[in-house]
Amino acid sequence: MDFSKKIINWYKKNYRKLPWRKTKDPYYILVSEFMLQQTRVSQKTIRYYLDFIKEFPNLEKLSQAKEKNVLKKWEGLGYYFRAKYLHSFAKKLQNNKISFPNKYKELIKYKGIGPYTGAAIASICFHEVIPAIDGNVCRVLSRYFGIHEDITSINTKNMFRVVVSKIMDFEHPGIFNQAIMDLGSILCTPKNPKCLLCPIQDSCFSIQNGTVHQLPVKKIKKFIKHRFFYYLFICDRNNNICINKRSTKDIWEGLYDFPLIESKINLSIHEIVDKIWKKFRVIVSPNLVYKLEHKLTHQILSIQFLSCQIKNLDRNIFLDRFFFISYNQIGEYPFPRPIILFFKHKKMI
Ligand code: ADE
Repeated sequence: MDFSKKIINWYKKNYRKLPWRKTKDPYYILVSEFMLQQTRVSQKTIRYYLDFIKEFPNLEKLSQAKEKNVLKKWEGLGYYFRAKYLHSFAKKLQNNKISFPNKYKELIKYKGIGPYTGAAIASICFHEVIPAIDGNVCRVLSRYFGIHEDITSINTKNMFRVVVSKIMDFEHPGIFNQAIMDLGSILCTPKNPKCLLCPIQDSCFSIQNGTVHQLPVKKIKKFIKHRFFYYLFICDRNNNICINKRSTKDIWEGLYDFPLIESKINLSIHEIVDKIWKKFRVIVSPNLVYKLEHKLTHQILSIQFLSCQIKNLDRNIFLDRFFFISYNQIGEYPFPRPIILFFKHKKMI
């Protein structure tokens, strides 16, 4: 039996019973593939997926939604540009009366649909014979063929694409792609792989040559940026909270937070007061109420929340740049996780 038959037989008995696998409706597959970009399948992602499709059960409903509400359903999942691209895809199709693209070449023209997502959708929904190469698949193939090239490089991914397009099942490309994904996440795991249960162990280069633990090769070229955030928690005399819509090309674009002082280095309280004066023209004696560290893929954020009393609130910058919401409106806005944790700490949600 060949590679493809073996993994498909294994998959039929062992596949993960994920909610989006009950359908071939491209909308549901699209949502699941966007959610799984840079994210592992987990109970959490399953919950987000089910909530999302309950709120936006089809492309039309998603296209009619406000961006704020789409981001609210994505709140806590991270990589928020995925939600924005998903929303813009729905709007583009609906507004221009375009039917769902059913070819890989068409799919990858849309923002947020890269080679992996395009291939997953095209193969699962439209039976296109096109390999979907993600991190899991790279690990399986590196070990199986004994490939020592860096799997983070585009050249290696392209090479895998050529190899897989020759060995994949032409009748069931969607099942084939998902079978390698599941093999990678169930058996051929990064640590403690379960080689004895593997359906392709007999022909695996790494099992024969003892290279399972050396492969895949992954060059780490991560540059971690450290940022210091000082959030100003400001309430008006009616206890409304001052919030900001993040609009710059930066993390959390489209989400909401508080007025912010940012620095590349840790600041003393005097330096913070000075920066608040320079930026907002108010004199405050900030009170540290909460601090946390938030890790992103290439960044570490050291965040402090400072409660600030501002006397002349109605006559300064805050009213032009920011806006105020009452406690019971908190649930209407999408906030990044650190802000949610702050609200929880203050028992405001
Ligand atoms: N990761 C990304 N896409 C997936 C899929 N369709 N099934 C399982 N894991 C995935």
